Amino acid sequence: QLPEQEMRDRIKKIKEKMGESLYIPGHHYQKDEVIDFSDDAGDSLQLAQLSAKTKAEYIVFCGVHFMAETADMLSSPDQTVILPDLRAGCSMADMADIYQTERAWSKLTEFFGNSILPLTYVNSTADIKAFCGMNGGATVTSSNAEKMLKWAFSEKERILFLPDQHLGRNTAYNMGIPLEEMAVWNPQTEELETEQPIENIKVILWKGHCSVHEKFTVEHIRSFRLRDDNWNIIVHPECTHDVVTASDFSGSTHYIIETLKAAEKGSKWAVGTEMNLVNRLSSQYPDIDVQSLNPNMCPCLTMNRIDLPHLLWSLENIENGNPQNIITVNGETKSFALMALNRMLQRA
Ligand code: 13P
Ligand code: SF4
Repeated sequence: QLPEQEMRDRIKKIKEKMGESLYIPGHHYQKDEVIDFSDDAGDSLQLAQLSAKTKAEYIVFCGVHFMAETADMLSSPDQTVILPDLRAGCSMADMADIYQTERAWSKLTEFFGNSILPLTYVNSTADIKAFCGMNGGATVTSSNAEKMLKWAFSEKERILFLPDQHLGRNTAYNMGIPLEEMAVWNPQTEELETEQPIENIKVILWKGHCSVHEKFTVEHIRSFRLRDDNWNIIVHPECTHDVVTASDFSGSTHYIIETLKAAEKGSKWAVGTEMNLVNRLSSQYPDIDVQSLNPNMCPCLTMNRIDLPHLLWSLENIENGNPQNIITVNGETKSFALMALNRMLQRA
């Protein structure tokens, strides 16, 4: 491996040479060394919108696989989307596969007839997005989940929310839907987990979760509150419902960033989200005290697979006329998934 400075110099040179034909979006959870070279840093909604707009020939996506798939679907066919490391997946997106989803749908429509609409968090495969598009549903991100749930309820009486039970539960609860009107679909047992009569159920939550955000607990909140009562607790809605209700603020990555940006000088913030972002906020805003809600920190290991060597490798391959790790979604999957994405983007 080359010395860090040499990698940086090479990346800089290729970026200068390629100019506007290269676009590097970086998710806020990426390492600083990657964000340093990103043309834009954003959350998943912002990066989807920016990828739809860019005219660059190459989009080198610094994020995870489902984000690169989304960028490919939203860009034009003559643009090429590259993921610098194919191992940068998302464990949550992998918790709902299309076969499980089709089997679940056939059982759920047996119970509920035509009264149900599927919504999927963008943190899902293109196949799941296509499934939602095909069945009249849409995608959501953590920034617009409430807006999209409201839209879905204007269309149908019930919602199947994939694949993150926590974002689904927290959003529906904020809208005034009681927990008793929510049930969990367990894709392993293929059963609906509820003690209520099923006709009362309004939201069916897929039993998936984010392995990073599930690591923040009510115990962590308690220990910050015990230290002194001046800590503000802010968490991402991928955290469990207990954690979200015990915290002071909850919202998307973008919301967390904006809240800390506007925070009063000297205030203290315990943040329940990915480690790279928490560390970056802490150094960007030295006038406030920013700490991870979980003292062990919580990295997203797959996001962290993208690093300087992988970024440089991708750029050098493009320079040599041999781009690698091209992400493409084709045919029917793309056209139905785009229906789901566009239903969201029209309302975002
Ligand atoms: P947002 O960028 O929508 O907040 O999503 C967080 C996340 O987990 C990305 O994988
Ligand atoms: Fe997936 Fe969670 Fe990592 Fe986001 S933070 S990419 S949801 S595992």
